[in-house]
Amino acid sequence: MDSISEPSVVPVVAAPGLVRSRIAGFGGALPDRIVTNDDLAASLDTSHEWIMERTGIRERRIAAPGELSSDLAAAAARGALADAGLGAEAVDGIVLATSTPDRTYPATAVAVQAKLGITRGFAFDIAAVCTGFIYALAVADAMIRSGAARTILVIGAEVNSRILDWTDRGTAVLFGDGAGAVVLRAVDTHGGAGEARVLSTHLHADGRHADILLVDGGPGLTGTVGHVRMQGREVFRHAVSKLAAVVDEALAANGLRQGDVDWLVPHQANLRIIDALGRKLGLPPERVVVTVDRHANTSAASIPLALWEAHTDGRLKPGQLVLMEAIGGGLTWGAALARL
Ligand code: UT7
Repeated sequence: MDSISEPSVVPVVAAPGLVRSRIAGFGGALPDRIVTNDDLAASLDTSHEWIMERTGIRERRIAAPGELSSDLAAAAARGALADAGLGAEAVDGIVLATSTPDRTYPATAVAVQAKLGITRGFAFDIAAVCTGFIYALAVADAMIRSGAARTILVIGAEVNSRILDWTDRGTAVLFGDGAGAVVLRAVDTHGGAGEARVLSTHLHADGRHADILLVDGGPGLTGTVGHVRMQGREVFRHAVSKLAAVVDEALAANGLRQGDVDWLVPHQANLRIIDALGRKLGLPPERVVVTVDRHANTSAASIPLALWEAHTDGRLKPGQLVLMEAIGGGLTWGAALARL
């Protein structure tokens, strides 16, 4: 059949129950190269002790020369599809969050689509920095609820190493590279409390705070890629208060209490912020998924990488309630609640 006449997405037939989305598969990909704090201390005025004490980071993965966000994303997506028991032909669309796209355009999602051999449906990127995965999940969930698609790859992928100023100890020690993916699928729900589904997503932005975390270049501004600049203490201050508020918002929207949450899967920027949120939720440390020690801050990839890890080692189980939250440049911040 001529591909022009193919429908762009699978037509959705009205279902008897409500159409909602559920996470049906998890995937992740990390570059091979491990860079330790001591490796960084060899060329920067820093130390393993300072980095561990202030952030909880021991090491990070750094992409090989030529290794792109789309390479890591495609590997994570393949893993998520295999975990869901699906082939690439099942995918109606790709929503990919990144701040380190392969190119200014086309979208990195389109490169991933081509690498997966998919020739139908939609593919686009989302730019919400470290909150990118929550934004991407929210958009994909809304598309599934509206009937625009039944199966969406939701990906967070970064090669942060390409936008770091390796002479700036205030940022160079904090970030790493990687990608995580989930398969989001339509499911007909009947309103049962225990049904697997994305319960709700909560997005926020406040551009007044753009200058405390930004990349100081771009095609419009400088014609160069630029480097990450951050007022760390200011971002920290906003993180603690805004994440606490959005977590309360997500629970209240669903009539849930702190004790109902089985897992906190937070954005992985700083162990002190993660611990503060875990304490606020009354969750013991073993109910909080932490990867920041080994991955550092992988921006949009950090939550799906953490989900993948906890799914793969058997911690996440069907029926459990997972709370995700993130804050990043923009400022953007948000939360999502999902029943597995
Ligand atoms: O993912 C997006 C969201 N991002 C975040 O959530 C990051 C939030 N911020 C943070 O995680 C923390 O603010 C940092 C880890 C970035 C910094 O920790 P901090 O405890 O807030 O330290 P600071 O920025 O207040 O710096 C304290 C001192 C400074 O020296 P002086 O001015 O007190 O003499 C810094 O110059 O630590 C110095 N410093 C370092 N020292 C050794 C900054 N970076 C380093 C370093 N090694 N790598």
